[in-house]
Amino acid sequence: MKKVNLAVVGATGMVGRTFLKVLEERQLPIENFYVMASSRSAGSTLTFNGKEYVVEELTEHSFDKPIDIALFSAGGSTSEKFAPIAAAHGCIVIDNSSQWRMDPEVPLVVPEVNPEDIAWHKNIIANPNCSTIQAMVALKPLDDKYKIKRVVYSTYQAVSGAGLAGWKDLENGLKGEAPKKFPHPIANNCLPHIDVFLDNGYTKEEMKMVNETRKILHNDNMRVTATTVRVPVFDSHSESINIEFEKPFDLDELIETLRNAPGVVLQNNSQENEYPLAINAAGHDEVFIGRIRRDESVESGVNLWVVADNIRKGAATNAVQIAEEIIKNMQ
Ligand SMILES: NC(=O)c1ccc[n+]([C@@H]2O[C@H](COP(=O)([O-])OP(=O)(O)OC[C@H]3O[C@@H](n4cnc5c(N)ncnc54)[C@H](OP(=O)(O)O)[C@@H]3O)[C@@H](O)[C@H]2O)c1
Repeated sequence: MKKVNLAVVGATGMVGRTFLKVLEERQLPIENFYVMASSRSAGSTLTFNGKEYVVEELTEHSFDKPIDIALFSAGGSTSEKFAPIAAAHGCIVIDNSSQWRMDPEVPLVVPEVNPEDIAWHKNIIANPNCSTIQAMVALKPLDDKYKIKRVVYSTYQAVSGAGLAGWKDLENGLKGEAPKKFPHPIANNCLPHIDVFLDNGYTKEEMKMVNETRKILHNDNMRVTATTVRVPVFDSHSESINIEFEKPFDLDELIETLRNAPGVVLQNNSQENEYPLAINAAGHDEVFIGRIRRDESVESGVNLWVVADNIRKGAATNAVQIAEEIIKNMQ
């Protein structure tokens, strides 16, 4: 496999540090490796594959050197400014922020779901929102078979989804300290508020789920609604997903379809109290699905409980899988 020069931008953050772990685990063929962040952490060091790397400050000149792939996780405004600079230098950017996701010129990719979209990139590829990624892995095989008509998402999202600051709010909140990141205490609480509120009364996180689902499944008319909730859990997002189909289905066959779907682990044995749990999904790359049951209130519908590590499959692992696809096609 061809060796590439690879940079991680935002390497000191929650997602960035996980990038380093996942890149090590999956042994990507890397020639030269660069870690970048803001001036705040420039000069500090990070260990990768047993070697120390000095964090460089991200500047307009960071991509003057030959870099084949850059994994960005440094926020929307950083991506807005620096992804086009990297792309203009011939570097393929895989971006974790929401900046480019709905740009019609930018593919939005979950490798198990729409790897074919990678082909039309113009040097920027967007990684979907964490809560969207895990839902897509569950929805795609069912859409292929039974054609989805409508989806209702209700999420239970971990504080790590709000970066290091979100994590600290829960850690400190459990000791009685006031929140700094969230508008209300997250300890012993549930906040029906992720990202900013929009004019239609939804939060931006909710509309990300709606719009990204349609883009990834290539169906602008799919009816989708969402309520996204921050819960006092450190790692892994849990989601209740209610799906209505165009076609009828056999429940056993639907369960087998999910069991055989790429990236899925089925935990669907309620009799034994076996169902996906945030604490068990944490640290893993798969999407865990259970509580599969017919929605008896509609003609053809099903309910799922879907859990995944939001920093791994919801961010770093998904982006690294995209990088693997790109490297495969570089031969
Ligand atoms: N957490 C999640 O579940 C998740 C999931 C999917 C996508 N994302 C996205 O990934 C991005 C990072 O999230 P996170 O949770 O890792 O946040 P985080 O823990 O707060 O880390 C932010 C990172 O961005 C760097 N950064 C900030 N401003 C910068 C600038 N002007 N130039 C260069 N680097 C800069 C920081 O560097 P310093 O150390 O120098 O401050 C740090 O490395 C966000 O866009 C987020 O929306 C997060």
